Amino acid sequence: MSKSYRVAILGATGAVGTELLELLESRNFPIANLKLLASERSVGKTLKFKGENIPVEPVTEQAFENVDIVLASAGGGTSKTWAGVAVAKGAVVIDNSSAFRMHPEVPLVVPEVNPQAAASHKGIIANPNCTTILMTLAVWPLHKIKPVKRIVAATYQSASGAGAKAMEEVLTQTSDILQGKQPVAEVLPYPLAFNLFPHNSPLTDLGYCEEELKMVNETRKIFGSQEIRITATCVRVPVLRAHSEAINLEFETPFNPDEARAILSQAPGVKLVEDWQANHFPMPIEASGRDEVLVGRIRQDISHHCGLELWLCGDQIRKGAGLNAVQIAELLIEKNLLQSTTA
Ligand code: A2P
Repeated sequence: MSKSYRVAILGATGAVGTELLELLESRNFPIANLKLLASERSVGKTLKFKGENIPVEPVTEQAFENVDIVLASAGGGTSKTWAGVAVAKGAVVIDNSSAFRMHPEVPLVVPEVNPQAAASHKGIIANPNCTTILMTLAVWPLHKIKPVKRIVAATYQSASGAGAKAMEEVLTQTSDILQGKQPVAEVLPYPLAFNLFPHNSPLTDLGYCEEELKMVNETRKIFGSQEIRITATCVRVPVLRAHSEAINLEFETPFNPDEARAILSQAPGVKLVEDWQANHFPMPIEASGRDEVLVGRIRQDISHHCGLELWLCGDQIRKGAGLNAVQIAELLIEKNLLQSTTA
């Protein structure tokens, strides 16, 4: 009989947490026991898994006993408090927050790009930032053929990146505006319905927000290359759950768009969506609920002979967060990497 595992979802009631639950069920993840953890606010709630109602438990030290894998998506502060506790109790933590991503001893893994990095884990593996995951899926297959020198990215990010409450807020604001009422912003800093604004993560001294610097630093770590020059402008748009990105790539030598198209049509986790006659390219509405990152509109950069332009859309909650985390867990099982090496 094949082995099954004791899994805990930390942040089970959130946007990513509920998606994790669905992914574990639909991918038939080998589960022996499932614990659903959230804040005290959610105690008394139940969530459905394979037809069964599972109670949501508060996070405590005891909650991590007899757990093999923790899928954490409850924010950086919660991960910082509990990841070490879970690891000390023998679990491997796959963390969706930014708490450990740049820690030199924590692998930052996109299974289609750098699965080998997972082997060096010491109990925690970080799931990269959503915009970064989506971008690496499209850029890595090209970078492997011809090194990318510089990436210029502009993102169009959905409300889901700010959590379930932000998604609800956009729907309420939309309805309020349609009824002639003033929209109220409580979760996000400004009304997002019928609007957009530069990403709401904290600004740094460089003038970049943290989200933009995550794309820079995390992509370099995942690619194992500190030389790639990367710049990004991140923008929140009134879309519910899929992010879009306009990406300009500069290579060492010219990259034929047809060659790039052929490579991306075969790339794992990528689906090429290009109908030039119909002007049909990736759209968030078509990327939502899908596992693949939709890539298209690949064209020669007319301002640079070694440049390529491309456009992508990917489900932020799925490949941008939950799916990538579950794929890391599947990778750990497949490569027999579940034993934490801290003992
Ligand atoms: P809760 O629903 O009880 O607040 P999202 O990213 O959609 O905002 O979801 C965040 C998730 O993290 C929710 O499941 C939320 O639980 C959980 N969470 C937030 N803060 C804590 C905390 N301090 N301890 C445990 N879980 C938390």
